Amino acid sequence: MAHARAQLSRDPLGRSKRTRLTAERVLELLSVLRSGGVEATLDGGWGVDALLGHETRPHEDLDLVVAFSDVSRIQEALRPLGFVLHEDHLPVRFVLRCNGEQLDFHTVTFDLEGGGVQPQPGGGSFRYPPEGFVMGRVRGESVPCISASVQVLCHLGYEPTLEDARDIVQLCHAFGLPIPTAYAHFSSTVRPDYSRRGPMVDSQLVALEVVTPDTARLLSNLFGLYLHDMSEIFPIEVGADGRFQYGKLPLYWSEPEKRFAFLIRSGARPAGFALVTRGSPATDDPDDLDVAEFFVLRGYRRTGVGRQAAFLLWNRLPGQWIVRVSEANRAGLPFWRAIIQEHTRGAFSESKHPGGPHGTRVFSFRSESPSAAV
Ligand SMILES: CC(C)(COP(=O)(O)OP(=O)(O)OC[C@H]1O[C@@H](n2cnc3c(N)ncnc32)[C@H](O)[C@@H]1OP(=O)(O)O)[C@@H](O)C(=O)NCCC(=O)NCCS
Repeated sequence: MAHARAQLSRDPLGRSKRTRLTAERVLELLSVLRSGGVEATLDGGWGVDALLGHETRPHEDLDLVVAFSDVSRIQEALRPLGFVLHEDHLPVRFVLRCNGEQLDFHTVTFDLEGGGVQPQPGGGSFRYPPEGFVMGRVRGESVPCISASVQVLCHLGYEPTLEDARDIVQLCHAFGLPIPTAYAHFSSTVRPDYSRRGPMVDSQLVALEVVTPDTARLLSNLFGLYLHDMSEIFPIEVGADGRFQYGKLPLYWSEPEKRFAFLIRSGARPAGFALVTRGSPATDDPDDLDVAEFFVLRGYRRTGVGRQAAFLLWNRLPGQWIVRVSEANRAGLPFWRAIIQEHTRGAFSESKHPGGPHGTRVFSFRSESPSAAV
């Protein structure tokens, strides 16, 4: 069944009278809604651009997925800005407008699993699955958005416009998804944007997995690759057998209350690892959590895997966190600074410490997210 989007593509209002919705305006509107107690998730064109992390085209409207129970709260929050009801297709969707700015609200009822059920114009319903609610970025700021695979699903079952095709081709390229048959004939006219460094990995595919005796060898093999990378910075020698060895790895099994080892997976495939200790060489508090080692395989770098994995780690283990990174780590330093800034919304400290061949930066912050068992 076609998603309610089919109705939008035949929008009788015409687009000429609409005003462009800029990234700043999107962030402002999300913040106004949040202040009014409404969590809105970006869908449509802005949702695509949040997934891609940059603005790919001008947007003449803003599609948002919201709870049906929030309809009056939304109108109240946006009334002071001048937004009035322009179209009422409830319980499917409604449109607010102000001076040519158009906001399309898709109303869902959340079920117990966290899926969002939206009635459809022709009867029946569409369910946004719980894993379809992910985070993207607008102007570097973290925002809720619909996942790439669900975006593709919502674009099926109706005659796509050239704009739809551009969005879907970009998304499929960026997230390594197959281009749906209905969009295949656009592939000669629509070209993906190759300026991005590599395909982005759908955030719902990245997972942390506790290392067990069964996966200890996998971790040990990945660790050798990590040490090879680190030997550019630190005086690490390869063994006589041509392997990089790390004697402390077995401690992660003999001291399970102080050391935590996780594999990073992208789907089923190994993509890296994160090793954490309770107690940090940089502080005196034995409860501090320290990112001891962190590694993303080269094929997955600059695709968001490291960012997702670190966020999962900090959400999983709340507390005071320490991240130590060599001043000479050309990827590590900007990586940690960018994602700690994003995760903490700027509430972190950064200090210089002597030590190591080049000096060390130490980041410190609290992660407040709810815990899950390790
Ligand atoms: C550092 C490392 C973990 C980054 O992982 P990653 O998966 O490539 O990082 P992400 O794709 O999630 O990057 C998130 C952001 O960090 C910053 N970043 C990451 N790598 C960067 C680099 N090489 N140069 C500049 N900024 C970088 C960017 O802001 C990036 O966002 P963008 O791609 O949208 O611009 C990875 O390069 C790695 O494993 N390096 C070798 C081991 C290592 O140094 N570990 C850290 C020890 S302290």
